[in-house]
Amino acid sequence: MRAVITLLVIIFLPWSSGYAATDTETKPSHASRLKAGEGMTLVAAQCGVCHSLALVTQNRADRRGWTALIRWMQAKHGLWPLGEFEAPILDYLAKHYAPSPAGRRQPLGMELLPKPQEGD
Ligand code: HEC
Repeated sequence: MRAVITLLVIIFLPWSSGYAATDTETKPSHASRLKAGEGMTLVAAQCGVCHSLALVTQNRADRRGWTALIRWMQAKHGLWPLGEFEAPILDYLAKHYAPSPAGRRQPLGMELLPKPQEGD
């Protein structure tokens, strides 16, 4: 009997934990590297069809910017109308991939750079 139970656990544990992992948006997706959040699975499904989701995660824009990008892909690259998915997709993108304040200082102006020395 113990062997049967052990066998059942071995068979069903990966299945049940796998199901839980795909059914939730509370953990970041390791496959796509998308940040966790409501709408993540929609973005993974709709936005990873033609290109890597890295194109999504490496970009930052506000809601208007993301809308413009979607319109551009619809006009030029055959992206289909997103219909009822568009609002939750934009909510997700605008929240998790919003423009962030620059992490680096602005480059120095030419007048602040050291003057080239003779012989440089
Ligand atoms: C029907 C195909 C298709 C789908 C689906 C698609 N895209 Fe694209 N997307 C493209 C193409 C083509 C490019 C241009 C790729 C390149 O420049 O190499 C692109 C480029 C991008 C870029 C880079 C833009 C830039 O300035 O370089 C981002 C960001 C992007 N897509 C986000 C998304 C998002 C978000 C979704 C889901 C709503 C999505 N894509 C779904 C076709 C698609």
